Amino acid sequence: MDEMFSDRIKDVPKSFIREILKVSINPSIISFAGGLPNRELFPEKEIKDATAKVFESCGKSLLQYSNSEGLIELRQWIADRYKKRKNIDVSPENILITNGGQQGLDLLGKTLVNAGDGVIMEEPGYLGAIQSFSIYQPNFFPVTVHDTGMDLEQLNSLHLDKSVKLMYTVPNFQNPSGITYDEANRKGIMACAEKNDFFVIEDDPYGELRFHGEDAPSFYSLNPEKTVMLGSFSKIVAPGLRLGWIVAPEALNQKLLVAKQASDLHTCNFTQSILHRFLCDYDLDEHIAKIRKAYGSQCRAMLNSIEKYFPDGVSNTRPEGGMFLWGRLPGQMSSMDLFNEAVKENVVFVPGDPFYTTVKKRSDFRLNFSCVDEATAEEGIKRLAKAIEKMM
Ligand SMILES: Cc1ncc(COP(=O)(O)O)c(C=O)c1O
Repeated sequence: MDEMFSDRIKDVPKSFIREILKVSINPSIISFAGGLPNRELFPEKEIKDATAKVFESCGKSLLQYSNSEGLIELRQWIADRYKKRKNIDVSPENILITNGGQQGLDLLGKTLVNAGDGVIMEEPGYLGAIQSFSIYQPNFFPVTVHDTGMDLEQLNSLHLDKSVKLMYTVPNFQNPSGITYDEANRKGIMACAEKNDFFVIEDDPYGELRFHGEDAPSFYSLNPEKTVMLGSFSKIVAPGLRLGWIVAPEALNQKLLVAKQASDLHTCNFTQSILHRFLCDYDLDEHIAKIRKAYGSQCRAMLNSIEKYFPDGVSNTRPEGGMFLWGRLPGQMSSMDLFNEAVKENVVFVPGDPFYTTVKKRSDFRLNFSCVDEATAEEGIKRLAKAIEKMM
């Protein structure tokens, strides 16, 4: 059967997280593995009301085919929010509505990457982006991410030729590490993009989930012609709607539109209208404030337990927002081995390996705090500490 598959799909790994989620179905297991927003915070009633309203007012037209760019009112709402939140000017004409941020990644791969082209990848990096770009058979250039952003020395020492098309970054509360790039780091990255002529992909699904500290300027505000912004309603409203967007310079936007047409004609007309009704009728800022407050205290609870229970030598990031933090075991200890030990203690997390483009036994790991309350976080961290101690 293998000979039937295309070269582009053959070596792309299955999502490791989906495999872990199978283990965590067991109710006695505490899971820090998922990457899900907290379902208790979904605006369920408000979405239900918005659905009834749009169906009543324009039922038949919502069931018809629609345009590939996406609902103009929703694109205008997104442009207005960029102005309000970041004081940046984005034309709705340059916004393409996508089936979640994930489709944005696929469309960018399809539009920019020939087999063998260079893709600079923050490392560790979002495994969904690694998977998505891998389909287009790029040559990955991994660059390490430290506490304040990408390692600029490493970046500037790469041999970057014309085949390098893009750099992928999650500069705010990165998935998986929770790290945020500071302003100087962003400027250094943009200088490299300008010098070597590649696009910086600014994937920002967590940017609004800041629980302390101040925002650094967006790459887009440094140079809009070199930046592609990816956005998503998954973490601020609900992921099941599958709604996100891309903001790209005009010429690229036109090609992305062709790729979108070829992929699925358009994003669901019905959910776009429901979301737009919801955004008009309710105060999104108030809703996001609730999410920030909840995730902020869940993150603090996890950090407090880590301080209390983890043995000396284990280090971790202290995120200012988002849904994840990143731990590192001492020396050469493998987080994959720790995973096997942790399952025996009824706790799971994601080992570092799938967040890298190069295969190696990593000592780091991701912990998700958005779906566990204080008591569960404490119990889970206690169990994990026990598994680490056993391995030491
Ligand atoms: C960094 C990042 N980008 C993109 C996505 C895809 O999200 P969605 O397609 O739901 O917008 C995720 C999902 O977890 C993510 O963490």
